[in-house]
Amino acid sequence: MLKINMPQEITADMKEARKDYIDRHTPHVIAPAKVRKGEAFDVTVKLGNEYVHPDVIDHHIQWVQLYDGNTMLAMAMYQPGVTVAGKEEASGFTRVTFHVSLAKTGRLTAMSYCTKHGVWMSEETVVEVE
Ligand SMILES: [Fe+2]
Repeated sequence: MLKINMPQEITADMKEARKDYIDRHTPHVIAPAKVRKGEAFDVTVKLGNEYVHPDVIDHHIQWVQLYDGNTMLAMAMYQPGVTVAGKEEASGFTRVTFHVSLAKTGRLTAMSYCTKHGVWMSEETVVEVE
């Protein structure tokens, strides 16, 4: 059965003990708090805050998905070696920006897949539609 690593299920002790491992796999949704109905806006999904994920042939981020509730809005796929990750540079963080619109207030989450460490999920980000 597929295991999804979810931030709300990782204990504080585990977050501290495996800080780098958890950080480099956790996707973060960066979106405006409020948008206008039907008007497109940018949503960026970034993996990690402090630690860059490796990007080599047998260990890389293969895909990033953006959801509104149970509905997948967008998906990006990566070949190994294209995100510049693994060079421990600020620019090496895996990130993708989607251009989307919402008809009603959205509850956005992101999922990402590491070829070695499985599926990881972000916290939920609410985008209010006015
Ligand atoms: Fe990994």
